[in-house]
Amino acid sequence: MKIENIETPALLVSADALERNINKMALMLKGKNPRLRPHYKTHKCPYISAMQIKAGAKGITCSKLSEAEDLADSGIEDILIANQIVGESKLSRLAELAKRCHLTVCADCEENIRALSAAASSHGAVINCYVELELGMKRCGVDTYEEFYELAKLIKELPGLEYLGVQAYSGNMAHEFDREKRMAVTDLNEKRVEGLVAYLRERGIDSKEVSGGSTGTSAFKAESRVYTELQAGSYIFMDNTYGQMDLGFENALFVLATVISAKPGRFVIDAGVKSLCPDQGPPRVLGYDAESLSLSEEHTSFYCAHDLSVGDKVLVIPGHCCSTVNLYDEIYFEKDAKVIARLPVVSRGKSI
Ligand SMILES: Cc1ncc(COP(=O)(O)O)c(C=O)c1O
Repeated sequence: MKIENIETPALLVSADALERNINKMALMLKGKNPRLRPHYKTHKCPYISAMQIKAGAKGITCSKLSEAEDLADSGIEDILIANQIVGESKLSRLAELAKRCHLTVCADCEENIRALSAAASSHGAVINCYVELELGMKRCGVDTYEEFYELAKLIKELPGLEYLGVQAYSGNMAHEFDREKRMAVTDLNEKRVEGLVAYLRERGIDSKEVSGGSTGTSAFKAESRVYTELQAGSYIFMDNTYGQMDLGFENALFVLATVISAKPGRFVIDAGVKSLCPDQGPPRVLGYDAESLSLSEEHTSFYCAHDLSVGDKVLVIPGHCCSTVNLYDEIYFEKDAKVIARLPVVSRGKSI
């Protein structure tokens, strides 16, 4: 199939750029302390996770129970849900899943830990746990070393659970454009996590794993003394927001769109917020520097000089790759300007 014949909007991945990003990350971490545990949320395709494992990733990170189930169904053996799973029926599914793979989940409160233990015990499963440390994002996680210690101790005491280590993700630094600030805060966080690990060790608790990091902090995390896992996700596709940060990865993901209106100083494509998620920043059309743009549900208008006509196809770099992928049923893979595969976004919409 030729690219011109794809109906738009459609998700297009450059197979060569994808491979180069996978290899670049593998090279960045070669011989370093942290190993890659890439985040599934970016592509939601188990066959891409398998490529990452083949390139040296130790396992996969995901956010949702239903994503973890898809990963296990596809044969991925080591899965981290970097999130809190709450609710009786979900915990029962989690415990069943833990019998099929090496499964780790995060926790940040006693109530959830007791519920995890009860579910694991009643299903005859072992659920591995990371306790989450809050690192400035003000999402999940405990605030103090003391609270962390109490929860790690509880996990060690309760049946059906195994304490494995620390979830330490500072998402507020992922898109910090000021490199010096990003590096300085990442370094401060590193010291805080290092202090925690020592604090726990002095009290008889060993933390085998310290997990976290993003595409934006991956170069710093590669040099970490304390992190054992890097959870970067977007590096594999990149997007217009990360693309402005000079991180060394290239755009592999595009939305193929069609120009549906072209006037002097303005053109409009057939993709709006329902096809190009702008939650982290606006999209960009390859080859055209728009002075401004406006997004509505099914249109994006770009205001700039252009040579486009109605019917022309353009490649759009989304503002945020992960949330854009979740809008599509399938991905077209391109190599040498030809479609070489058309594959499903297996875990699209898996938010449970
Ligand atoms: C828990 C967790 N780990 C890692 C990441 C890093 O992802 P990325 O490299 O796409 O910024 C995220 C992003 O949302 C996350 O929520």
